[in-house]
Amino acid sequence: MSTMMVAGNWKMNASTLTNTDLTNALVAGAATLTNVQMVVFPPAPYLGQVQELLADSAIALGAQNVSDKAQGAYTGEVSATMLKDFGVKYVLVGHSERRSLYGESDAIVAAKFKAVKTAGLIPVLCIGETLAQREAEATLDVVNGQLQAVIDLVGVAELATAVVAYEPVWAIGTGLTASPEQAQEVHQAIRAYLATQDAAVAEQVQILYGGSVNAATANELFAQSDIDGGLVGGASLDAQAFLAIGQAAQS
Ligand code: 13P
Repeated sequence: MSTMMVAGNWKMNASTLTNTDLTNALVAGAATLTNVQMVVFPPAPYLGQVQELLADSAIALGAQNVSDKAQGAYTGEVSATMLKDFGVKYVLVGHSERRSLYGESDAIVAAKFKAVKTAGLIPVLCIGETLAQREAEATLDVVNGQLQAVIDLVGVAELATAVVAYEPVWAIGTGLTASPEQAQEVHQAIRAYLATQDAAVAEQVQILYGGSVNAATANELFAQSDIDGGLVGGASLDAQAFLAIGQAAQS
């Protein structure tokens, strides 16, 4: 991968006031970044606001969730074409919080991935093991299974133009970052697994690491050969911290 990506998942933290301050600071600070694609993922009601704030910036807009359905009588849902209408380019699918707190199965995640692709947007497919699964040495079975559920529905070729985010559940919001070696080991294994199905896809797919990434840990993580950037939660709410992670991705 030539261009690294640093993506900020704001989760359910936003207001029109804080969005303005945060986005304006990011736009100003990101103007000097090169060779790194910065992306922000605000909560859905604020996509229009953040789209306007980002208007003259190279920072891309992302959404945290999407319906698996195209349109119709699905109260409360937001379709991929609606997201596209607000300038969204990237969409998170299968974040561990969606899987564990909202019961999203591998099948639903795969259907959402397909809906995002059908609308011409780029899915960021989140995969990762729990602490119990890691301790049971099931990490690779878990992440490969999560990947395969998507491949079974859409075919492996669709991964070439998608983003995968490896987010070990035990590292999310806990302050426990996977070590660069632990992360690299899984990223390499994900690429090796994809290579058994399509070598070109394995080479092209962009794989981000997520889980307590901050300005202090980013340098070493991004130095790993199979880590193509980061998906950042908490630290993405602080403009200076997020920009510092962007800088780490450049070096
Ligand atoms: P934290 O960076 O807060 O651990 O969150 C990671 C994450 O879930 C990003 O999607």
